[in-house]
Amino acid sequence: MKYNLVEMFVNDEIKEAALRVLESKRYIKGPETKSFEKEFAEYVGAKKAVTTSSGTTALWLIYDALGIKDGAEFIAPSHTFIATVTPAMHMGARPVFVDVDEKTYTLDVDEVRKKITPKTKAIVAVHLYGHPADIKPLKEIAEEHGLYLIEDCAQAHGALYEGKKVGTFGDAAAFSFFPSKVMTVAGDGGMVVTNNEEIGEKIQILHDQGRREKYTHEYLGYNFRMSEILAAVGRVQLRHLEEWIRRRNEIAKLYSEMLHDVVKVPEVMPGARHVYYVYTIRAKNRDVFREYLAKNDIATGLYYPIPVHLQPAIKQHISPQPLPITEKIVKEIVSIPMHPQLSDEDVEHIANKIVEFYR
Ligand SMILES: Cc1ncc(COP(=O)(O)O)c(C=O)c1O
Repeated sequence: MKYNLVEMFVNDEIKEAALRVLESKRYIKGPETKSFEKEFAEYVGAKKAVTTSSGTTALWLIYDALGIKDGAEFIAPSHTFIATVTPAMHMGARPVFVDVDEKTYTLDVDEVRKKITPKTKAIVAVHLYGHPADIKPLKEIAEEHGLYLIEDCAQAHGALYEGKKVGTFGDAAAFSFFPSKVMTVAGDGGMVVTNNEEIGEKIQILHDQGRREKYTHEYLGYNFRMSEILAAVGRVQLRHLEEWIRRRNEIAKLYSEMLHDVVKVPEVMPGARHVYYVYTIRAKNRDVFREYLAKNDIATGLYYPIPVHLQPAIKQHISPQPLPITEKIVKEIVSIPMHPQLSDEDVEHIANKIVEFYR
């Protein structure tokens, strides 16, 4: 399509970084992953970062390190990508799904309160689409009930809540560098960040076969390491991240100005910086709308048409309770092209087509 949902960024700097590592012949556990961890931790404002093989394995390490397993319950939204919950479920934990706020598409704080039981061990906040969840009240609830607060930042690199980066509010946070994300490593990759040194150290050990030293394995660990080549690419991408977030915000502003009369456009809560991983509107006659845009060479995406609690894989394990807002919005949401390489003319063209459809 002429107007893709996302576009990859490859420049000479990235090619040189990848080639440099290839020629160094050091492919794991070297200086690039170390530097990427240090630079990413500094960017987010966290004490510790650990590179991982994906966002899913980043979450897995957090759940394992915090003991979200073996019958523990954890609160999570259903309006998210399934990997928010599957790693903990593999270890025997049980998700308790909570509805989202219709404006921000993130956890409804009042609903969270209602779903806490004596078995609850953690709250998982997902900063969906790049908009921060209402993390302060969630932190208060977690503190009040002695629960862990975990942040799924897979879609929200650089998002701000009251001026502070997401990923620094909870006990630990997971980022994804899957190729469509706000920044990538040109492959699968992820990062755990935390301000808790004990948790950080445990995750560091777990992600490399449960060992601190070569021949002694303290925990049943994993190989969830990131390659040096990917870390080198990630370091270059990180240097562009702020400029990309600025451009994503300019594009979103232009879309919203042109579209707010015809569709429901994204809302940004006071004190929040949205990073627009995706620009999601609510569309009437969604299927016809998508077909029309496809005919006009404009891609669309659904994040996500089937909520997690209604997925066949999840229903085999738990009987879902209804989530009215989630079940309503998944029928209306649709994401339109959003990436920093779109020009103002591209955005105006796409927005004009949408206006034309609804008028
Ligand atoms: C909200 C959310 N959580 C977790 C993940 C898992 O990340 P990954 O695809 O890097 O394993 C993703 C991304 O796909 C995501 O969007």
